Amino acid sequence: MKVNKHYAQLEESYLFSNIAHKVADYQAAHPDADIIRLGIGDVTLPLAKSVVEALHTASEEQGHKETFHGYIPSEQGYPFLREAIRDYYARRSVRLDTAEIFVSDGAKSDLGNLLDLFDVDNTVLVPDPVYPVYVDDNVMAGRPIRYLPATADNGFLPMPGADTAGDIVYLCSPNNPTGATYTREQLKVWVDWANAHDAVILFDAAYECFVTEPGLARSIYEVEGAETCAIEVCSFSKIAGFTGTRCGYTIVPEALLREGMSLNKMWLRRQTTKFNGVAYIVQRAAAAVFSPEGMEQIQQNLDYYRRNAAVIGAALEEAGVWYCGGKNSPYLWLKCPDGMTSWQFFDWLLDTAHVVGTPGEGFGACGEGYFRLTAFGDAERTKEAAARIVAALKTLH
Ligand code: MLT
Repeated sequence: MKVNKHYAQLEESYLFSNIAHKVADYQAAHPDADIIRLGIGDVTLPLAKSVVEALHTASEEQGHKETFHGYIPSEQGYPFLREAIRDYYARRSVRLDTAEIFVSDGAKSDLGNLLDLFDVDNTVLVPDPVYPVYVDDNVMAGRPIRYLPATADNGFLPMPGADTAGDIVYLCSPNNPTGATYTREQLKVWVDWANAHDAVILFDAAYECFVTEPGLARSIYEVEGAETCAIEVCSFSKIAGFTGTRCGYTIVPEALLREGMSLNKMWLRRQTTKFNGVAYIVQRAAAAVFSPEGMEQIQQNLDYYRRNAAVIGAALEEAGVWYCGGKNSPYLWLKCPDGMTSWQFFDWLLDTAHVVGTPGEGFGACGEGYFRLTAFGDAERTKEAAARIVAALKTLH
């Protein structure tokens, strides 16, 4: 028997598991420390009222013979949810067919599972820094990876150059962790590059709901030509607080062909074989997100997180720390003070302010010297964390 030796190439544990262990160790050693967690981007507001009502109604249906739902008739998702997603895009002038929409248990699963469609010899282009799942998924498969440096010089938005070569490229916009967001013009350059190079873009739009500035893209399909080169992955976690409820969706256009094969048909074949769909009650809850009441309630939650981002941003400004993000994104990306490495700053901030963040280096080598804070916390705790961060940083001067 042989195991998949590529696992030996991975870091010992996944970034957020590693941080959770470190924080647990610190708490055990300092039981009185009142730790505020602004590390992993987990939401703190409960599900919206209309979503909870949909969950109740659907649960009740499952308790009666006449309304009970067994195996999901289509692993791709119930038509009522796929139609609601189609209409959500249509309101932004993006036309999708429901046959192109696949409901899943979340973006993270799909980002890994999509790789089933591609040969292991394909070269993968991954921005650095970025959501660590893209790298780990490909390391597990043994696929060659090339990094696209995302630095302050390019606004943390790498663009293809004359020598850029690869088969699969991940783009995450608004970006996790930097918050940088591509304009439509910038995405058009990537789309033209992918179509010219026979490459496929895996576009992670999990944070699209945070975009407020005009000119910034919320979907890659806002760009002409994307339907022949891009797959878009999205999530209900950030828009509607589904981190514990689990639901996401992936769009694979019918026009996306490679080597004469339809990636839409391949993905359908993969999903119908390896996936039995998302629970009926969860799909009902997800559809409620897109109802007029759901959208209004969700906007209130997003505004709550936006206010948190403004509070953290103001604290960093007061402390004289450089940062970006927090505008079209729930993440703030700051430069570690006093030349500290990102893990040194993690330890220092935990010990000095009892605030947890995420070291930039955990998102890639180019993240060294940077640090990420999330705006998804409780508002009062975020204000408390911001005050502690300012006080701690002032001790450095
Ligand atoms: C993050 O903190 O980067 C995200 O919450 C992780 C995720 O969505 O899986």
